[in-house]
Amino acid sequence: MAILEIKKYPEKILKQKTAPVGDIDAKTQQLIDDMIETMNTVRGIGLAANQVGVSRRLCVIDVSTRENNVPLIVLINPAIIEKDGMIEADEGCLSIPGFMYTIKRPEQVFVKGVNREGKDIEIEAAGLLARVLQHEIDHLEGLLFIDRLSPIRREFFKRRYKKSLKDAAAEE
Ligand code: CO
Repeated sequence: MAILEIKKYPEKILKQKTAPVGDIDAKTQQLIDDMIETMNTVRGIGLAANQVGVSRRLCVIDVSTRENNVPLIVLINPAIIEKDGMIEADEGCLSIPGFMYTIKRPEQVFVKGVNREGKDIEIEAAGLLARVLQHEIDHLEGLLFIDRLSPIRREFFKRRYKKSLKDAAAEE
């Protein structure tokens, strides 16, 4: 297994819609293992393939550190079938470290996809898992959580982000 480099905003691959996964071959299995290892190492609760430089419709989710009874999820070619309700919660992203914003999203989702064995899976989720599912599926569409901010708040983010990069460079 290997720890993969996580792509950071504003790298282009994060803005591109990913392509569906075809055969779940040995290379894909290796990618899944490496993504799980990488997510665990940085204590993330979700990671999309394009965040590690592979533009394929695949993500891994592990909210077990925050919510019991939810096993690790490997989700290939996911689609949101139904959404219900609306709720605000704080969100962050491994590709935009150090920034958190309150984002409004549907409260419950019904998602279909395929697991790493190629078997069809259905997930009915609320709470944190519903949020992470939507955040990761957004990634696979080339969307970041900051794209869900109002235009004004997004401009503020961009300015603060640029400044944070400059400050970090100055410290080196
Ligand atoms: Co993210």
